[in-house]
Amino acid sequence: MTVNLKRSSPGGAQEPGRRSMLGLLTGAGLAGSGLLGVISNLVFIKPRATYGQPQRFTIGKPDDFPTGSRVALQAQKICVVREGDKLAAVSTVCTHLGCTVGLSETGFACPCHGSRFDHDGVVTGGPAPKPLPWYKVTLAPNGEIEVDKDTEVPSGSYLSL
Ligand code: FES
Repeated sequence: MTVNLKRSSPGGAQEPGRRSMLGLLTGAGLAGSGLLGVISNLVFIKPRATYGQPQRFTIGKPDDFPTGSRVALQAQKICVVREGDKLAAVSTVCTHLGCTVGLSETGFACPCHGSRFDHDGVVTGGPAPKPLPWYKVTLAPNGEIEVDKDTEVPSGSYLSL
């Protein structure tokens, strides 16, 4: 005697449709969770570190720097030099070991090991091996002064205002 264990359903014709729908939903769920896994891994791998301040920035309008002034901007590590209708930006990072130089009567002086620079950043004493770099300065379309620390210019290169 044989027993037929196959189940029969009243809606037998609907069975393949329901199965394919469940298969489709399962596949979509697996694909979605896989995609989420890939995205979360990419977000995790991407470094969230920042690498210091931007090297190109604006520092204000020319009128913010009166003629004859030398203004040290501590955060940007530059000195803005204004002479008449000319303006320049000189680095205040000592070329010896990177301390921030201060303004002095004769130019710049480094508090760390005593390097001294004249007003143009030329080394006049101490262990600093190179002069202080000058940076490219331009006038932005909105009239603000823009400094580009990625672009060094020869000493004595002023922006004419
Ligand atoms: S870091 Fe300026 S003299 Fe050494």
